Amino acid sequence: MSNDLVIKDLRARIDDKEILKGVNLTVRGGTIHAIMGPNGSGKSTLANIIAGHPGYEVTGGEIWYKDQNILELEPDERSKLGLFLAFQYPVAVPGVTVANFLRAAINAHRAEAGKDPKETAIPVAEFRKQLREGMKILEMDESFARRYLNEGFSGGEKKRLEILQMTMLKPSMAVMDETDSGLDIDALRIVADGVNRLAGPHMAALVITHYQRLLNYIKPQFVSVMMDGRIVRDGGPELALELEEKGYDWLREELAA
Ligand SMILES: Nc1ncnc2c1ncn2[C@@H]1O[C@H](COP(=O)(O)OP(=O)(O)O)[C@@H](O)[C@H]1O
Ligand SMILES: [Mg+2]
Repeated sequence: MSNDLVIKDLRARIDDKEILKGVNLTVRGGTIHAIMGPNGSGKSTLANIIAGHPGYEVTGGEIWYKDQNILELEPDERSKLGLFLAFQYPVAVPGVTVANFLRAAINAHRAEAGKDPKETAIPVAEFRKQLREGMKILEMDESFARRYLNEGFSGGEKKRLEILQMTMLKPSMAVMDETDSGLDIDALRIVADGVNRLAGPHMAALVITHYQRLLNYIKPQFVSVMMDGRIVRDGGPELALELEEKGYDWLREELAA
């Protein structure tokens, strides 16, 4: 079984506009891989399609993970395969606490066809222990677990929840779209510390970002550049440095030549 995420000639549109124009990308299991690119190049569209977000029409291509074309799977099935999609929790859910949400997410993973969910559910004591440990690592106050999901959360708190969720679900591939607007240094650090702690042989991370500065904290082994709906360059960490130094225009010019 392959732990690589392999995207082949992925094409997608929103309404009548073609946004992804044949994306080819391999994210190797157990590695940190960054996708960079100018605003509007299709990075978030790619992340949303990996997550199974409705509202995008995939018009061609495949996304393989663990020997399955995940485009044929529901979002929860993708999650059970070990894919973690950072934005998979709802924006704000009044009445659902952080603890309840996390427990539901863990139990959804543990559920098995034909078995009573009560049988497979995580024992309450075990869940509490894992939650306490996760929150301790993230230096979170215990009261956080009793708050309602994302209600009045700061950018940093949303990021902490994202990393807490990752810590507890133990995915094998985390896809994180770090939409750059509004991410302050504090929030960047939380994400970076979390990724650095969790990524390794057991977890790959696909980190999507516009700014090179996130990569001051997260050290990817691989960097790919997306422009106008395609991956136009693959390289190592030096590619990110080159982009920081020279911006995206040189690459655009090189590609046009
Ligand atoms: N919901 C949407 N409706 C219409 N156009 C969209 C929508 N989402 C994204 N787009 C367009 O798709 C293109 C790619 O957007 P996006 O994937 O958000 O790029 P990036 O994350 O690289 O900034 C942009 O031109 C954007 O305007
Ligand atoms: Mg984006």
